[in-house]
Amino acid sequence: MNPPSPSISSDAVLRVRSQSLRSKNLIAAATDKISLAIGEPDFDTPQVVIDAQIQAIKSGYTHYSPQEGRGELVNAILQAAVGVAGNGFSSENILVTHGGSAGLTATILGLINPGDVVLLEDPTYSLYLDGINLAGGSVKRFARNEAGELDFNAIDNDAKGAKLIVLCHPSNPTGAIISPAEWASFADIVKRHGLVILCDEAYEGLTYDNAFVSALDVPGLREHLIVSRTFSKKYAMTGWRLGYLVGESQLIASASTAHRTFNGSINSANQFAGATALLKAGDDAEKMRRVFQTRRDLMESCLREIPNIQFRRSDGAFYFWLRYPDHLGTSLDVAAKAAQAGVMVRRGEEFGSTGKHALRLSYATDERSIKEGVARLARLLA
Ligand SMILES: Cc1ncc(COP(=O)(O)O)c(C=O)c1O
Repeated sequence: MNPPSPSISSDAVLRVRSQSLRSKNLIAAATDKISLAIGEPDFDTPQVVIDAQIQAIKSGYTHYSPQEGRGELVNAILQAAVGVAGNGFSSENILVTHGGSAGLTATILGLINPGDVVLLEDPTYSLYLDGINLAGGSVKRFARNEAGELDFNAIDNDAKGAKLIVLCHPSNPTGAIISPAEWASFADIVKRHGLVILCDEAYEGLTYDNAFVSALDVPGLREHLIVSRTFSKKYAMTGWRLGYLVGESQLIASASTAHRTFNGSINSANQFAGATALLKAGDDAEKMRRVFQTRRDLMESCLREIPNIQFRRSDGAFYFWLRYPDHLGTSLDVAAKAAQAGVMVRRGEEFGSTGKHALRLSYATDERSIKEGVARLARLLA
């Protein structure tokens, strides 16, 4: 008998591959294609941030930085992002990460053992599922009803024996934010069952109807909380690969151990850029937020013209989540047909099974593309 041939991929990688919901953008066949599939701001990084990085390189900051992050950035996070007065955070509560992605995956790998249960919303950003599969954890999903409400009795039931709840606030893909009353219910559940909340605040600051309330400001949650943020969205810095975690110190220490195994320390000069973004690019970020708000309003009014679809107003991030009648086919089919018709969108199934007949539309693009893209989609969904 031949000895079994060793697999070229680990079980962890095979688990991620077989269960991942992530998909590449479909390539549109039409020449005049419009993308409403974009997951990043279409703005340039603010000049003051670029200048800070160039200056840092010229000043010789070209060496390794401390694993947990340079003091300049950690202090800026403590000052600007979590507020310094009376919140009790110190550098032990911060980890600078290789973008939001690495912070999220490091948190999951630092916390989850094979077999541990993690609660995830459906739909939600697909990276969490990949991280959970990498760790060997299992998932229970919860969903909002048609009115956008969460069933906290069901969540409470599923939370028994679970270890972690991952929340995306504001949400990719729905644009929903978690309300103060919902936060109170989550805080009650995690305290009673001894769970941890990982709150992904990648779109922190990008809210349009209500001021952004961070999970960090929810009373009673602090001991159970780790928050992941990134410079990618608010400061239009997707290519810089810079983010950070803020949270309970033991959770940060575990995430740090996982993070350093696959990232090492973070680009030194970029950390000066990050500190400058937090301390000096607030006005630039606010200008971008206002443009997103105008585009959100425009996309909403265009979508209201389409009969038979269901959607809720996007409160944050830069996405609308729309459901269309089941008979039109799966989101894979509809997204493929949309690509043929010259408009690219993300298929809903990428974010969970509730997205089988749903699409995610991004308004991180210009007004002409929003109008024409939605018009093309309207013809398809009619
Ligand atoms: C909800 C959410 N979290 C995290 C990320 C990853 O951000 P980063 O570019 O910092 O890795 C994204 C990117 O699309 C996102 O949508």
